[in-house]
Order: sequence, then C-alpha cells, then structure tokens
Amino acid sequence: MKKRILLTGGSGMVGRNLLEHPEIGRFEVLSPDSRELDLLDPNAVEAYLRLQKPDLIIHAAGRVGGIQANLKAPVRFLMENLDMGRNVIGAARSAGVKQLLNLGSSCMYPRNAPTPFHEEMVLQGELEPTNEGYALAKIVIARLCKYISREDPAYQYKSLIPCNIYGRYDRFDSASSHLVAAVIHKIHEAKMSSLTSVEIWGDGVARREFIYAGDVADCLIRSIDHFGALPQMMNVGCGGDSTIDEYYQIVAEVIGYRGAFHHDVTKPAGMMRKLVSTQKAQAWGWRAETALRDGIAKTYDYYLQMRNQKADPRATR
Ligand SMILES: NC(=O)c1ccc[n+]([C@@H]2O[C@H](COP(=O)([O-])OP(=O)(O)OC[C@H]3O[C@@H](n4cnc5c(N)ncnc54)[C@H](OP(=O)(O)O)[C@@H]3O)[C@@H](O)[C@H]2O)c1
Repeated sequence: MKKRILLTGGSGMVGRNLLEHPEIGRFEVLSPDSRELDLLDPNAVEAYLRLQKPDLIIHAAGRVGGIQANLKAPVRFLMENLDMGRNVIGAARSAGVKQLLNLGSSCMYPRNAPTPFHEEMVLQGELEPTNEGYALAKIVIARLCKYISREDPAYQYKSLIPCNIYGRYDRFDSASSHLVAAVIHKIHEAKMSSLTSVEIWGDGVARREFIYAGDVADCLIRSIDHFGALPQMMNVGCGGDSTIDEYYQIVAEVIGYRGAFHHDVTKPAGMMRKLVSTQKAQAWGWRAETALRDGIAKTYDYYLQMRNQKADPRATR
C-alpha cells in the first residue's frame, strides 16, 4: 500500500517541485490549497486530519517573502507562520499522525553566527532584524516539533532547514520575490528595454546560498524514504555560496545582458553571509546536485515560459 502523505503548501514553489518530482507517484499525496483547507483555521485543520489520517505530513505551507515583504509586514510573517505551524502540528498530534516533516529556514540562525551554520547554533544569538518575525515563528515551530518527539518518541516530528531556494514556480514580482528570481526579472527587463545599467541593493559583497528547488524536492523524497534516519533538525544546503554581485553576473551571462551594474549602498542588504553546514545531510547520505548556472538557466526558461503564457492565453502551463 502506498504511503499516504499530506503536503501543505502544495501550490507553493517547494510543494510544486515536489509534486512534479519523478518519484512522487510512489506515494499517495493529498495537497489541499488554502481555499480547500485554510491552515489558519484550527478547527478546519483538526477536522481534516481526523478524517484523512495521513501516515506522514510535509508542512511546506507558509508566508514567505524577501527582505522588502518581511520589512513591510513583520506581524503577518510572525503570526501566520506561527499559527499555521501550531495548527498543523497540534492537530497532527491529536489525530495520532506519527511522522511530520516541518520546513524551517536558514533565517533561524543568529546574524553573527560563524559560517557555516550548524544545526546546534539555532538560538545561540540575536536574529537578523530584517526578517526577525518570520525567523522567530520558524524557531518556535521547529522547537515544538522537537518537544513533541522528546515527550513521546513514537511521534517523529522533524525539521529541515533549507537555505534560500530558487527555481521553477518561483515568484518574480519585485514586491515578494527572493534574490535570484528578482535578479532574473530585473535583468530580463533591462535587456528588453536596452538599459545600460542595473541597480544592485547594498554594496554587492554580502554572500548568499541558494539551492535549486528541484534539489529540495529530491531531499524531501529521500526524507520520506529514510525518515527514521533523518536527524531531528537538518540543514538543506548546496555547500557553497556566492556574492550578490556574482548572482547578478551569472544571471546576466545566462540572459545575455551586456550592461553595467551600479550599487545603491543606502538600501539594506541583510546579513553579510548565510551559508548552512551540509555535514549532517552528507552523513545522512544526501547532497544537492544542480550547479548554480544550470539551475539559473532552468529557472530562466521557466520565467520565459510564464511570460509567453501571459502574452498568449491559449498556451497551457
Ligand atoms: N522560498 C525560499 O527561499 C525558502 C527558503 C527556506 C525555507 N523555505 C520554507 O519552505 C516552505 C515553502 O516555501 P515556498 O517557497 O514553497 O513558499 P511559497 O511558494 O510562498 O508557497 C507558500 C505556500 O503556503 C500556502 N499557504 C499560505 N497560507 C496558507 C494558508 N492560510 N492555508 C493553507 N496554505 C497556505 C500557499 O498556498 P496558497 O497558494 O493556496 O495560498 C502556498 O502553497 C516554507 O515553510 C518556507 O518558509 C522557503
């Protein structure tokens, strides 16, 4: 019999990449979107889980966004991520679901922690203020998983901590997008408008780690298959980072933009460096396979496909 999995956030970037993974057919996957099941409604979540009784839950729903979105709405980022996590985890426990995989974020690490971040460094220092609300919610939910497993080891509630993610189904609008998607959109537009220069927020030397969403889906499939051996908290990273300037350069090469770049140092750039340790993941037997340039090329193909569909409504997704 197929393992029955409830995937929250199935319409999001991580969820969609998992749903189109070549191995996903081995499982029975329930993936209600927010209209079918609003995770902010505790009664609805409780009723759903009592009825469906999945073998495993992958909690990939959340309120997610880049620096601008986080700065603008910290209350929403804190409350929604906290409430969704609490509702899903509390109801899972009441319904007797024994395995749950929660998605955290590398924002959970202290701003001044030495890199690479090891899982034990969570709560060892002050958080980055630009996304503190989001990070606090993620920390509380990861701790909740840990406490539940500690109180009753029959309940294996674990957390993955991905670094930044980019790829197919990313959001490219500048208000809520993350770095790679935002840069692809910006440079594509610059090329189309024959702009001679593109602005970069901050001085461009801050370093960021971005993993391809297809690789995160790979890690989730392996987590389903090897759930028992999965550590309580485990980073999901690609093992290397690049400067913000380098992301702009690689995207420009992929797109074929030949203009210049200039920096606006009055704009916030966030943490200087964010790189997660991949030691635990490697010991567990997994590593990301997609090279940055290849991932960016695939993401740009997806971006162009989406734009063409908007231009031609007869085209299908
Ligand atoms: N993207 C990244 O760079 C990144 C990095 C590290 C960790 N993560 C974590 O990975 C997880 C997935 O991120 P993502 O990038 O896939 O996010 P995303 O593309 O923004 O998708 C968010 C998902 O959450 C769902 N959702 C939001 N509010 C909901 C509600 N009230 N009820 C039910 N569903 C709700 C959305 O469903 P609807 O479409 O129906 O609203 C959507 O499916 C999140 O926990 C995030 O914190 C992401």
